[in-house]
Amino acid sequence: MELEALDPRRIPAHVAIVMDGNGRWAQKRGLPRTEGHAAGEDALYDTVQGALELGITWLTVYAFSTENWRRPADEVRYLMYVNESVLTRRRDEFHAQGVRIRVVGRRDWRVPRRLLRRISETEEQTRRNRGMTLTVAFNYGGRAEIVDAVRALVEAGTPASKIDERAIRRHLYDPEMPDPDLVLRTSGEHRISNFLLWELAYSELVFSDVLWPDFRRGHLVEAIAEYQRRDRRFGG
Ligand code: FPP
Repeated sequence: MELEALDPRRIPAHVAIVMDGNGRWAQKRGLPRTEGHAAGEDALYDTVQGALELGITWLTVYAFSTENWRRPADEVRYLMYVNESVLTRRRDEFHAQGVRIRVVGRRDWRVPRRLLRRISETEEQTRRNRGMTLTVAFNYGGRAEIVDAVRALVEAGTPASKIDERAIRRHLYDPEMPDPDLVLRTSGEHRISNFLLWELAYSELVFSDVLWPDFRRGHLVEAIAEYQRRDRRFGG
């Protein structure tokens, strides 16, 4: 689908994506699952380019969940490698395009130190960019994010009467991040899988049957066309 098919006044400000189906894409081709993740990188790159063309200001992608540690050690190692390698290879180009890169999730002992370093460097390098914010949810869980926010409030000595929705929001991993307007999941699965639980309270959910490695900017346009056909009422 072409970009011109959309109403330019109703482009969602924040699109969040569950990039699902890498394993099945590889399996269908008789390849190891890791090849699916490698192919997923091209899909991500094209989607970022499409998001820039569309004027989307926040794009969030689910790269590794707190549950993904349960996968075979080789696959976990590969996912660490692919995340580090994408940051290393693409950050200068994204930086030149005005993309601010942020990573949300737990930075705990399980994440290799070199990757943690790469994350900090990339965030620092792109900190002042104002074009689009690309948020990578890495070692991220929606429940963990809420738990961490509540812990931070308790550690700061916040009285129970002061713990309200605004207080929790201020302690999420990125308090500046607006709630997603559109949450998109690929590969025909109709689940949220612990993604942005707090933030998606009023998001439109769109599902695509395309496996993530086959996803391209045209599919993003299709998802936004579906979004534009919806009537958002926010409970009103
Ligand atoms: C889900 O497919 C995908 C992942 C767990 C990893 C997503 C990672 C990438 C697309 C790599 C590049 C991304 C960044 C941000 C560096 P799955 O393995 O669950 O597929 P399946 O459901 O078919 O098994």
